[in-house]
This record gives sequence, C-alpha cells and structure tokens, in this order.
Amino acid sequence: MREQQAMVAACYHERFGQQELMVASPGRINLIGEHTDYNGGFVLPAAIDKGIYVAVSLRDDQEIHMYSTDFQETYQGSIEAIEKGSQSWANYVLGVIDVLQKEGYGCKGFNLVIGGDIPIGAGLSSSAAVECAVIFAMNHLHGFGLSKMRMVQLAQRAENEFIGMKCGIMDQFANMFGLEEQVIQLDCRSLEYKYFPFIQQEYALLLMNTNIKHSLADSEYNLRRQDCEQGVAVLQKSLPQVQSLRDVTIAEVDALLSGGDQQVYRRCSYVVKEIARVEAACAALLRNDLMAFGQMMYATHEGLSRDYEVSCKELDYLVELAAARSYVLGARMMGGGFGGCTINLLPASQVPVFIEQVSAAYTQRFNLQPEAYPVNISTGTSIP
Ligand code: GLA
Repeated sequence: MREQQAMVAACYHERFGQQELMVASPGRINLIGEHTDYNGGFVLPAAIDKGIYVAVSLRDDQEIHMYSTDFQETYQGSIEAIEKGSQSWANYVLGVIDVLQKEGYGCKGFNLVIGGDIPIGAGLSSSAAVECAVIFAMNHLHGFGLSKMRMVQLAQRAENEFIGMKCGIMDQFANMFGLEEQVIQLDCRSLEYKYFPFIQQEYALLLMNTNIKHSLADSEYNLRRQDCEQGVAVLQKSLPQVQSLRDVTIAEVDALLSGGDQQVYRRCSYVVKEIARVEAACAALLRNDLMAFGQMMYATHEGLSRDYEVSCKELDYLVELAAARSYVLGARMMGGGFGGCTINLLPASQVPVFIEQVSAAYTQRFNLQPEAYPVNISTGTSIP
C-alpha cells in the first residue's frame, strides 16, 4: 500500500501543490454474519491491508476539484450544487459532502486526489472506504468533532440516500474501527462491539475473486431487505414487540412464517440462523476451534446460496472447489453477493497449491481468470 500512497501524493503535488492531509482507508472482509447487519444481528468483519488513499486540502472558495488515479478522470463542481452524476467514484465523495451539509456541517471547497488498490466491485467495500476516508478528512480539516461512530453512521447514510444502496452499517463500521490482527464482533442493534484476536500464523485468510459482478447486485440487495421487512411485519401481528429479525427465534419463524410466502420464509429463516451462527462462531474462535469455525462458514454459504439466493454459479463453484480439498477449514461467498469474492480459511502452507489448482479449474469452467488475494487484518481509517 505504501506505493499507492506515494503515487497519490505525487499525483496531488503535480496537480495542486502541497496537500494538507493524507488519509488511508482500508477495504474489509467479513468472517461470518452476512446480511445480518440490516436485520439488527451480529457481524464479524475486519479491515484489511488493501485500501485507498485520499490526499486533500481545503480551498478558500466553493469549488471542488478531484482526480481519481484508478479511473484517470477529473471532476469539477461546487459545494453549492452537489448532484449525483455519472462518475461513480465521485458520487461516493459527493454523497458524504451532501449528508454533512444536510446535517448542518458546512464544508468549504476542496482539492482531492484518490487512488488505491482495493479491487472495485469485488465485495471488499471500496465504496465504504471512499466514504469513510472523505468524512474522516472533512472532520479533521474542518474540526467538526464527530465521533468515529457518528462518522460511520453518516457515511452509511450517504450510501443509503445519495447512492441509493440500502446497505447496513457493517462496511463503514469495519473501515473505521479496524485494528491489526483483530476481528470485530458488532451487535448491529445496540452498536456494542468486541474485538477478538485473530492471529494468522499457521492459517491464512485467502480471498478468491470471481471477477464477476452481476449488474443486479444492488437492486437485488434492496429486494432482500424488503423480504426481511415483510417477514417482520407478519411476525409483528403475533409478536408486537418484535422490531427486527434479531428479536425472534427460529421456532417462531417456523411457526409464524412457514405457512405464508415461501420466499419471505426462506429469507427470514436464513437470517435468524445466521445471527445465531455468528455467536457460535465467536465462541469457537475463543476456544481456538478453527475447525468448527470453518464448518460454520460452509453452513453460511449454503444458506446464502439456497435460502437467501444471493450467490451465483461462479461463487458456488469456488466454494465447491474449496470444500473438495480436505485441508480447507471453511469457505463461503462474502459480502452482498452476485459476484465478488469468496473467503477461504486454510493452512498458510497450502495457499500456493490452492491458488494454482482452484484458478485452473475455475478458468477452465468459466473461461475467466479469478484473482487471489491473501489478506492481512489491519488498521482502520487513519492518517498514515
Ligand atoms: C454489503 C452491505 C453490508 C452488508 C453486506 C452483507 O456489503 O454494504 O451492509 O449487508 O452486504 O452482509
């Protein structure tokens, strides 16, 4: 990542002179707890050693001048006229400025250069990394005094309202709260969180990128949310105290939803099981039982594929290839779904052979090269 930082700094210098601030902002993984965040459940994410850098200075006028090194595109506009446009990378920046202004945090114009090494569209939350880097930078430069949790919530709001993706809180949270060698169990209902040591010596976390992102990902995501909300509405008729799927047991879901809309039933049943699974997985981590942990990853994949229906044939095949190798402890699709990466837990010594064999089989089947990213758990958004 250091090279990326130097590249962003050099690019800033060439365009705008000396930058006032540099911010580093990581991608994220999630060990377990998928599609649970917006259902008030638990997640177990961590920040990783792939990220973006943002070099930025405030201006004395209202103008916004930006450049993306990844897209090699410029953007020019004004703080007074923030609108969503056709440049997706710029929209993530503008969304944050929009939310800040609506909350009464007036922003000055700024010059900004952005770039990094989070693969885009791979489910590693490059968008949350941009949003969090920008809110962190604006908070620092304007002295707004926002807490980390408040920045997380405003960045999530930018994604929900400006971009229109009704994501939960996990990505922005992991980005801001990440710590080296620690995974974070977040209770998305109370926002209480606990760090769990996850020291990767003997075992590695390896991401395999399908290099596919199906275009329906965002719309299907919003539809899954609606299915869950529909389930909650039915449950509330008998259990008025229920506010989210976090508040019900699988027995209640079976009793109250199995006779109705089968799609809603399967979605809710997956979510309630997954929320319980995160707690069991954390208990396994605490007793250092990675075998049990890995089995739960496979169970999550099964649920995401069959009941929640957010997987795709490419992801299923990568998990199948992992499961066929007895040394792999666990594997599953990660993130929103419909493409992106699988996360695999395996002995570090087997990583090279795994990458070689799995890549060859995947390429043969889909005529497409997957990418492999061994990841290290690293620190959240900060000034490098
Ligand atoms: C995306 C969203 C997150 C979360 C995951 C699924 O990454 O941004 O809020 O819902 O999908 O677990």
